[in-house]
Amino acid sequence: MNKLLQMENLERHYKTPAGVVKALDGVSFEIHEGERIILLGPSGSGKTTLLNCLSALDSPTSGKYKFLHVEVPRNNSEKMTSFRRQNIGYVFQFFNLLQDLTVLENILLIQELAGNKDSSRAKELLKLVGLEAEINRFPGEISGGQQQRVAIARSIAKRPTLLLGDELTGNLDTETSNKVMVALVDACKKENITSVFVTHDEGLVKYATRVIRIDSGKIISDKKIDSLHDGV
Ligand SMILES: Nc1ncnc2c1ncn2[C@@H]1O[C@H](COP(=O)(O)OP(=O)(O)O)[C@@H](O)[C@H]1O
Ligand SMILES: [Mg+2]
Repeated sequence: MNKLLQMENLERHYKTPAGVVKALDGVSFEIHEGERIILLGPSGSGKTTLLNCLSALDSPTSGKYKFLHVEVPRNNSEKMTSFRRQNIGYVFQFFNLLQDLTVLENILLIQELAGNKDSSRAKELLKLVGLEAEINRFPGEISGGQQQRVAIARSIAKRPTLLLGDELTGNLDTETSNKVMVALVDACKKENITSVFVTHDEGLVKYATRVIRIDSGKIISDKKIDSLHDGV
């Protein structure tokens, strides 16, 4: 498998009145195409900070970060936004759907921003996550689990190279959470999308090919596993 990205001794420090917080304290790893990574760690361990650095939403304080062998831009919001639009899909915990747009329009908008509007693909993805009957509804007219599935369809609609999720099943019940994960893993396989999902739910490990554990801004373990889902 090709190397997708590489971080080397990445640090993200926050200056606070109480002193410097080392949210990331020397993180190094490589990710190869096709990996499905679950990132586990207690609250405050640096998970969101790491996703924000991976997606160039945030700039590291120091260290190297290369994506497809090219330095990822930092401290330049225009270049960072363009990197993100081109390469990254991001599913947030609280969906971040636009309430004034229908389910379908939410997806079309993100494709438009990435410069590849394609309504038949948008509809196909909504079908994939089981929402073909809801495409013309507004987010306020569907359930939390359905909104999360819209957010997932939206995050893969532009064919990101790397898909990131932050506690994406955090407010779903176990059954919906499993449905969402199965839909996501299927979509990632079909579309050859590499993924990193942050969670504190050990139950999601079964969907991963690799599990990274982080604590106090440092990686404390990094293991490849045989994904049970591969056999399903
Ligand atoms: N904007 C910020 N300013 C200061 N400290 C921050 C900021 N964001 C996060 N932190 C601190 O960095 C550490 C890691 O936070 P975070 O990445 O959000 O952890 P997690 O997502 O694992 O809960 C925590 O100690 C948190 O308080
Ligand atoms: Mg977090």
